[in-house]
Amino acid sequence: MKIVIANDSHFKYAEIICDTIAESAKVRGTGIAKRTPEYIQKRLHNGNAVIALDGDKFAGFCYIEVWGHEKFVANSGLIVHPDYRNQGLAKRIKKEIFNLSRSKFPDAKIFGITTGLAVMKMNYELGYKPVTFSELTTDPEFWKGCQTCKNFDILTRTEQKMCLCTGMLYDPAIKTKASGMEKVNSKAFKRLKSIKESLFLSKKTK
Ligand SMILES: CC(C)(COP(=O)(O)OP(=O)(O)OC[C@H]1O[C@@H](n2cnc3c(N)ncnc32)[C@H](O)[C@@H]1OP(=O)(O)O)[C@@H](O)C(=O)NCCC(=O)NCCS
Repeated sequence: MKIVIANDSHFKYAEIICDTIAESAKVRGTGIAKRTPEYIQKRLHNGNAVIALDGDKFAGFCYIEVWGHEKFVANSGLIVHPDYRNQGLAKRIKKEIFNLSRSKFPDAKIFGITTGLAVMKMNYELGYKPVTFSELTTDPEFWKGCQTCKNFDILTRTEQKMCLCTGMLYDPAIKTKASGMEKVNSKAFKRLKSIKESLFLSKKTK
């Protein structure tokens, strides 16, 4: 398995990346920002993505988005193909994209929003902290990405203050030691998620 910084030679994987993201969201029954192959190809082209390949088989992907004039970057679209899950691949991809973000945008705050416990765990280990949405970028283009998520009405109702996703932030100015020892409290996270769901989702959609 190799994990490399993506380039134009990986354009042929744009379709499978989109399909795998969309399929996984369907299976999880969660909201997801929709990506087109063209959108993914732009990220492959500008050297802001990493791709994991098993020979020439697609195994995983993640990309960097730049927001608010490089004040913020997000590591988005993390996906591991179902054939390669539970082997620590997402962890390796996350680490690669985090390192790439730090080297290309050393002053940027790195953030993400997620409903996934796996992502939350990995972010913690890299030194991210959970924050309110007010700590994240105000760049409207970022928040526009949420429009294709099925929970977008919640974000609108709360005037962008909260949603089912949790915001997480790595601030390079705060010397958080990413010791690998930081652990998310899974029980508390699941409880918080279920509280948010009962607050925000109508009985019909739950
Ligand atoms: C989430 C996903 C990226 C994990 O990929 P993976 O390669 O199987 O993950 P890893 O094996 O590297 O595991 C990383 C950590 O997450 C945990 N984890 C993995 N899948 C998990 C799940 N479904 N629920 C809770 N924790 C999970 C692992 O136990 C591990 O934690 P640990 O270090 O405490 O043991 C993969 O399942 C996927 O692509 N899912 C669909 C897309 C998605 O959910 N993307 C995230 C967007 S929010």
